[in-house]
Amino acid sequence: MQIIHTAAELRAQLKSQASIGFVPTMGNLHAGHMHLVEIAKQQAQCVVVSIFVNPLQFGANEDLAGYPRTLDADCEKLKAAGAHIVFAPSVAEMYPDFDGHNLNQSMSITPPPIAHELCGASRHGHFGGVATVVMKLFSLIFFNGASRQVAVFGKKDFQQLFIIKELVKQFNLPVEIIAGETMREPSGLAMSSRNGYLTPEQRATAAQLQQGLQKIVSAIQQGNKRYSDLEQQLTQELNGKGWAVDYISTRSAVSLAPVTANDTHLVVLAAAKLGNTRLIDNIDFFAPGS
Ligand code: PAF
Repeated sequence: MQIIHTAAELRAQLKSQASIGFVPTMGNLHAGHMHLVEIAKQQAQCVVVSIFVNPLQFGANEDLAGYPRTLDADCEKLKAAGAHIVFAPSVAEMYPDFDGHNLNQSMSITPPPIAHELCGASRHGHFGGVATVVMKLFSLIFFNGASRQVAVFGKKDFQQLFIIKELVKQFNLPVEIIAGETMREPSGLAMSSRNGYLTPEQRATAAQLQQGLQKIVSAIQQGNKRYSDLEQQLTQELNGKGWAVDYISTRSAVSLAPVTANDTHLVVLAAAKLGNTRLIDNIDFFAPGS
């Protein structure tokens, strides 16, 4: 496995690859990421994993400085998992006009309107930052017309996955996006790099979010269409248990728009804070249309 830090070296290594599977990450890897690597291995001969904590997708009051950076341990895991290339660029490599303080990225991707809802309603600029860095990464990786070019994203970040699919569609990018299922702790808690912020007590209760979403799914599958009542009930329940719910929302899993009578593939998404840790989760499922 090669560990590469520059765009020039990455391009040189990928020039003659016949098929490329790419897994973009911000590091601090867990079993959820390894599942995405497994999918990439099934799809392509050369598996590239990027590790880059992207400043452009963090808001001023978010955890950019404290975000766990564990490159050596990550590389060990990736080597054992059979990845071929780790791309771990510096901020200056990804943002050529970075002056040590400001990224000076004056051109960026404008994400679709859905980027301002759900997580985007409180994380202003987040999805624009994600889309911009993913566009940069794709342009560094998918340039040689390899016969198969795929990128694997986890379903835990369901809204991100949706926006990346739109990016690929709207910019005619030569890459197929594949979704990996959310990996969970035995308790049901979705695996996330941010779970490391939780205290042991918080970790013991963090699966309440997933359990609550599961209750909504069951109610809807039994014919309850009062989505907003179900969402409010769960919000109250979780807030009463010490959470600070940001949103719980049932949407079309296909468009992320509010559910209409014809929708059968739905997703219930949530974001909530436990102490200072913001967790997200979702379940996509099928329900009878009307
Ligand atoms: O999901 C993530 O880890 C990040 O948002 C991504 C896709 C690597 C972009 O920085």
